[in-house]
Amino acid sequence: MSDLIYQILIAILVILVVVLAIVIIRKELQLKRSKKWNKFLFAWGFREIESYKKALYTEWNIKPENLQKCEMDLGKGQFGIVTKGKLKIEDSVFDVAIKSLKENHKDLDVLDFFEEYSLMKRFDHKNIIKLLGISVLNEPLEFVMEFAPLGDLKNYLLANEKSIMRIELFRFGLQVCEGLNYLHSLSILHRDLSARNVLVFEDGIVKISDFGMARNVKYTNGIFTRNRAENIPLKWMPLEAIEFGTYSVKSDVWSFGVLLWEIFSFGKEPYCEDNFETYIAKLKNHEHLENPLLSDVDIYNMMCNCWRERNLRPGTEFLIQDLNLFLTAKNHNLSVVIV
Ligand code: ADE
Repeated sequence: MSDLIYQILIAILVILVVVLAIVIIRKELQLKRSKKWNKFLFAWGFREIESYKKALYTEWNIKPENLQKCEMDLGKGQFGIVTKGKLKIEDSVFDVAIKSLKENHKDLDVLDFFEEYSLMKRFDHKNIIKLLGISVLNEPLEFVMEFAPLGDLKNYLLANEKSIMRIELFRFGLQVCEGLNYLHSLSILHRDLSARNVLVFEDGIVKISDFGMARNVKYTNGIFTRNRAENIPLKWMPLEAIEFGTYSVKSDVWSFGVLLWEIFSFGKEPYCEDNFETYIAKLKNHEHLENPLLSDVDIYNMMCNCWRERNLRPGTEFLIQDLNLFLTAKNHNLSVVIV
């Protein structure tokens, strides 16, 4: 009997030691992570993690139990992967896109995560993808965004070439330009504008997404100079951005011109036959993409204006005005299905 009691006591002791060890290890891990964050947040202007976390809880942080990832991968970027998910709000469940920071991320990626978050939470425009929240209590850090059921514009154009009406192409261009104009009105540059970074919703609505390269340029007289190596989308970039790392609203306008070309070519790859050297040689020679089969003189002139010397490129407001004029003028004779 006394042997049995002895064994039970030993078992209880072992369980207590294991539980205690688990609690201590979890506390240690939490402390380690919070120290790491403190380092970033301090550099970023937050003195103390607790007050920051409180702000996240009340405003933007999504509790892990309200978020569920599905199997479906939506894309992969420098940052990590984007997956389809479900978000529970009160009694309703919504489709969402979840962008997760990759597992082997560097310290700088965490800083980029918070920078992108601080930009995105300000956005409120019909042609800009909406951030619904972030999930930062567990690893990986995640963005939760509205879900675009029809995917990205490049693949949408490639897949639906036969059924899209030509007038729709003008509408896509106009909406992207309105989104870009909104970003510029907030003194934000996108710096990675292309058809693969525009998402398509039902009813022909398109929205600009992916703000991984976006930067605030308020305090630098409208010019942003790159200060670290980045994977830049060369064939959407003007020479001044490639050679000197100089970005402005006018470098976004250049990219918008290439995006218009992608739209009117139904998702073709720009400069697909050029390597880096031949592309740069073309830019230096003022040689540009050719007129896509489906664009007319007006829209091709608009693209070419976006590819002029920086100071001669139009601003987004001017482009919006012209795109509206084209839409009104062409409304009658463009509502035909291209076959
Ligand atoms: N791919 C990247 N982001 C997406 C989103 N928000 N919705 C659908 N597909 C996406």
